[in-house]
Formats: sequence, C-alpha cells, structure tokens
Amino acid sequence: MKSFQTERWAVDKTENTLENHPHIIQASLWINKNEVIAIPTETVYGLAGNARSDDAIKRIFEAKGRPSDNPLIVHISDLSQLEGLVSSVSETAQKLMNAFWPGPLTIVLPKGENVSERVTAGLSTVAVRMPDHEIALAVIAASGVPLAAPSANLSGKPSPTSAQHVYEDLKGRIPGIVDGGSTGVGVESTVVECTGELVTILRPGGITLEELEKVAGAGRVVVDPGLENEKQAPKSPGMKYTHYAPDAPFVLVDGSVEFLQRLVDKEREAGKRIGILTTEERAHVYKADCVIPAGDRSNPESVAQHLYEALRAFNEAGVDQIFGEVFPKTGVGVAIMNRLEKSAGGNIIKE
Ligand code: TXA
Ligand code: MG
Repeated sequence: MKSFQTERWAVDKTENTLENHPHIIQASLWINKNEVIAIPTETVYGLAGNARSDDAIKRIFEAKGRPSDNPLIVHISDLSQLEGLVSSVSETAQKLMNAFWPGPLTIVLPKGENVSERVTAGLSTVAVRMPDHEIALAVIAASGVPLAAPSANLSGKPSPTSAQHVYEDLKGRIPGIVDGGSTGVGVESTVVECTGELVTILRPGGITLEELEKVAGAGRVVVDPGLENEKQAPKSPGMKYTHYAPDAPFVLVDGSVEFLQRLVDKEREAGKRIGILTTEERAHVYKADCVIPAGDRSNPESVAQHLYEALRAFNEAGVDQIFGEVFPKTGVGVAIMNRLEKSAGGNIIKE
C-alpha cells in the first residue's frame, strides 16, 4: 500500500458553486487517477473511489483493511448513472427512489453489466444510493463517475462522523479528506433489497420500517430474518462482522440506573477504570471514571447523530470496561440498537 501525507480540504457546503470549488476539483482529480479519498455524506464519512476502476476498488479495501467478501455501496448524483450499473428497476424500487433519494436509503438491485465484481464481491446484485449531501453530490458530479464508498473507518471501528475521525483512522493511507464538518444522521443508511416488489431490510438505518411501508405499501416491507436470528446468515455480508467496537470491552445493560451503577461500582472496587455510555438526561446521575452522553434520550435522532463520536471518545479516555444503556427498538432506535449490539458483540446484562 502506498503512503500519503493526508491532506484536509475544508469545504463550506452552503457555498453555491461547489462543483467549481478548488477542493472539490482536487478531490475529483484524485478520483480520476483511481486513488481514494474521504468525503462527507449525510450519514457518515465515506471512503470514495471510482466504481468503474478495479484499481480504485482494490485501494478502498486495502486502506480500510476490509474483508474482500463484503460488497460496497455505489453512490450516484444523478439517476442517469443507473444505466449499466443496474439491470432493472422494479416499480417499487422506483417508488423508493422517488420518495427517499437523495437520502439515507441504499437499494440493492440486480447488477448491470458495467459493474466491477470487486464492488459486489461476486454477488448478482449491487447496492446503490444517492446521498443527500451537497459536497458528496458535487464530488460525484465533478468526477463524472459513480463512486463506490464504504464508511471511511478502519474495518471494525465505529464509522466516522467527522473529518477528524477519518484522520485518526486513515492518516497516511489516503491522499486527502474533504472536510465538510459533522455529518447529520450519524448512523449509516438503511440498506434494503428490492429486486422485485418486496422490500427486505438488510440493515436498519436512518429511514425507518414505518417510513418504507408508507411508500411501498402495508405488508410489502419485511426484515431479513438473519438480522434477528443468530442461526441464520444475514443477507447483507457486512452484518456478520464485529463492528463499531470501541477499544475497551463494551457491555449493554438492560435495567435501571441503580442496577447499572451497582455493576460499575463493583468493577471500580476491583480497581478498574469504567466508562458509561448514557444520554444527556442521565449523565449527571452516574459515578464512573468517564461518563459520556450521546444525545438526548427524548430525541432518538440526536442519539444516532452522536453515537459513534461517543463510542470513539472512550478510546481517548482510556477505560478498561464500558457499560452502555439500551434504547427502545422503535423508529431510528432500531438502528441505534443494531449498532450498539454489534459494538457490544451481543453482550447484554439484564436486570
Ligand atoms: O450511509 C452509508 O451507507 C455509508 C455512507 C458512506 O454512504 N456507507 C456504508 O458503507 O455504510 P459500508 O460499506 O460500511 O456498508 C455497506 C453495507 C454492508 O453491510 C454491505 O455488506 C452491504 O451494505 N451491501 C453492499 N452491497 C450489497 C449487496 N449487493 N447485497 C447485500 N448487501 C450489500
Ligand atoms: Mg461500514
């Protein structure tokens, strides 16, 4: 792998001629040389490369240390880029695009003839989305090609929601990061398979099941059984890996504040440094070596937005063990709990 002096290219996303912005042009020049760079999206930062170049795709996998059997999402800025990328779009898939693009919905479709096997990891389908972020759209448009982009973290780490997070993980490994500030949604896009008229949720995310049902119709949206049932392999290869993990062991606690505090006290008496992942409402209630709130419990969207930044903060605090609160699995809470369960490797203590 080549080594780089990783640059940070600040761009203000409210500028109106983004496509001509020197930093956007610089980013697109690297893309057109089939190198990979990081860009902001509305969900998390992505590590972007020319989706039509095997060299670029190889570099994405190398820079992240990603297993090669985990396919990438292709990002487009215009529906005309679906040509050659997918072989068909069902009526329901079209409805989803109309309703949610640009936005945090990735649609898995039958793959077209113009897609590298490396992008799809040999599958007959390809995952596509149009991000709702002016900078991402401008980089795609300026490059003139669809961009394959996984989250711009080292494989296994929490996804990056700021340019600083990307820098921590990938400095020296990529030529540059387009810095557009903090991302909005905070968790990755919802991934659905929609090759026919049925919508199967492969990864919960910013767009909820209820929102999908409103567009696809009642009874037309199902959840991949592999997401819930440990005995069945998930349909999305990425969902089988350990993910989003802080450095210290992380355990979820399904119980009262008092119960969680007792667990913490016991460990601290044994001389361990303990971290607690909570929310603003309860941050002052706990006693530990490091208490980190991720948003407000009363506003689940804010929890999603700050979740990964909170998980990363424990690494800096240098704790031996982290205990985290659980959240109701409704709306975006489904995505929050999916990520938390993965970062805890399935470890939950019930009161
Ligand atoms: O919000 C997001 O989706 C971010 C931003 C950068 O766009 N990207 C992202 O990419 O989260 P990544 O690579 O971290 O996750 C992609 C997920 C993985 O779980 C992968 O297995 C799944 O999408 N995936 C990709 N292609 C697929 C396919 N053809 N069939 C099923 N799952 C697929
Ligand atoms: Mg990822």
